[in-house]
Amino acid sequence: MSLLSILKKKSNKSFFTTPSHSGQFFILHKFYQWYRADISEIDFYEPQKKLEQAEEYAAKIYGTKSTNFLTNGSTSGIIASVLASCRPNDKLLIWSKAHKCHRNAGILANAEIIEYELPYNSEWGIYEKLDVLEFEKLLLKHSPKAIIITSPSYEGIVSDIKSFSEISKRLGVILIVDEAHGALYPFSEHLPESAVNYADFIVQSLHKTAGGLNPTALLHCNCDLNIKKALELISTTSPSYPMLMTIEANIKFLASKKGKKKINELINNIKNIRTKLSNIEFYGDDITKILIKKQGISGFKLSEILYDKFNIEDEKTNEKSTMLVTGLGTTKEKLIKLTYLIKL
Ligand SMILES: Cc1ncc(COP(=O)(O)O)c(C=O)c1O
Repeated sequence: MSLLSILKKKSNKSFFTTPSHSGQFFILHKFYQWYRADISEIDFYEPQKKLEQAEEYAAKIYGTKSTNFLTNGSTSGIIASVLASCRPNDKLLIWSKAHKCHRNAGILANAEIIEYELPYNSEWGIYEKLDVLEFEKLLLKHSPKAIIITSPSYEGIVSDIKSFSEISKRLGVILIVDEAHGALYPFSEHLPESAVNYADFIVQSLHKTAGGLNPTALLHCNCDLNIKKALELISTTSPSYPMLMTIEANIKFLASKKGKKKINELINNIKNIRTKLSNIEFYGDDITKILIKKQGISGFKLSEILYDKFNIEDEKTNEKSTMLVTGLGTTKEKLIKLTYLIKL
C-alpha cells in the first residue's frame, strides 16, 4: 500500500470534484503525467489514509516518533516546529545569521526572539559550530523555551547534536535542528551523523542534496508536542499528491540498496577528485559540500575563474573561499570538470 498505488486505481465513476482538470485537460501538455497524478481528496482514492501510511512507513525508516512530508520546504517545517514549541512571549534562541525562516517562525509564534552568535573562521570566511560548553552556557543564560541549531551549515559545518540534545533535555529546552542541507546523512556511515534520532524536531530539504523536487522536505519529530496541529495552521487543505508521491519514492530510494550505493558512489567520486587537486585546500565536516580555497586567490576571484574559464557555477562564495554543492544528481563526469582546478 503506497501513495503511488493510487495511480493504478481505475474507476468508471465520473468525478464532479476538484481538481476540475480531472486528469484529462492538460493546459500544459508536457506535464500531462503530473496532471494525471494530481488527484482529488475524495474517498475513492483514500489519499489521506495512504499519506498517513506513507508517513508512518517513513518514520520507521528514520526511527523517529513521526515524520511528516512537506511540500513547502524546510521553511514550513521550521515554522511548524516553532509554532508547536512556543507560546506568545516564550523565548526562542536563533542564530543571528540563520536562514530567514527561523526569525519568521519566531515572529509568527509571537515569541521573544533572542539571537546568539557563532564563532567566525576568518581563514575560510565562514561561521563555525558552537562548542558544547558554549551551548550549555547559552541555555543557562537565557532559559529559552526552544533553540534552533543549523547543522550542517551551508558550508558543511556539523554540530555535536548528540551532546546538545542531552543538555537541552536536562535543561528542559526544545531542540530544533535545521538539517536542511543534510538529508543524505541518515543513509551513509561515511557522512556526519544525522540529528534525526537526537533532536525534538529536525527538518531536511530533500530538494537540496537528496534528489528531490523543489521544495520537497521532511519534518521529523521525536517529542510529544502537537506537530500535526501546528502543520495544519500553515498548510493548504489541497495538498499536491504528485509532490507527495515523489517524497514517498524519494525516501524509499534513499533507504534502498541502490540509493545507498549511489550516495557512496558520490562520496568516492569526490574523494578521488580531491586526491587529484593537491594545489587546492578543502575544509568542512561533510565531504559532499566542496568548500575550497587556493593560496593567493580570493574566494570571489576563484568563483569568477570557475565561471569564466571553466563554465562552473558555485553555490556560495565569500572573500576567502568558494563552495560547490553536490548531491544525488552530481555525476562523475560533472565532478571530473573540477580537475581543471589543477591548472590554477
Ligand atoms: C540552512 C537553511 N535552512 C532552511 C532553508 C529553507 O529550506 P527550503 O528551501 O527547503 O524551504 C534553507 C534554504 O536555503 C537553508 O539554507
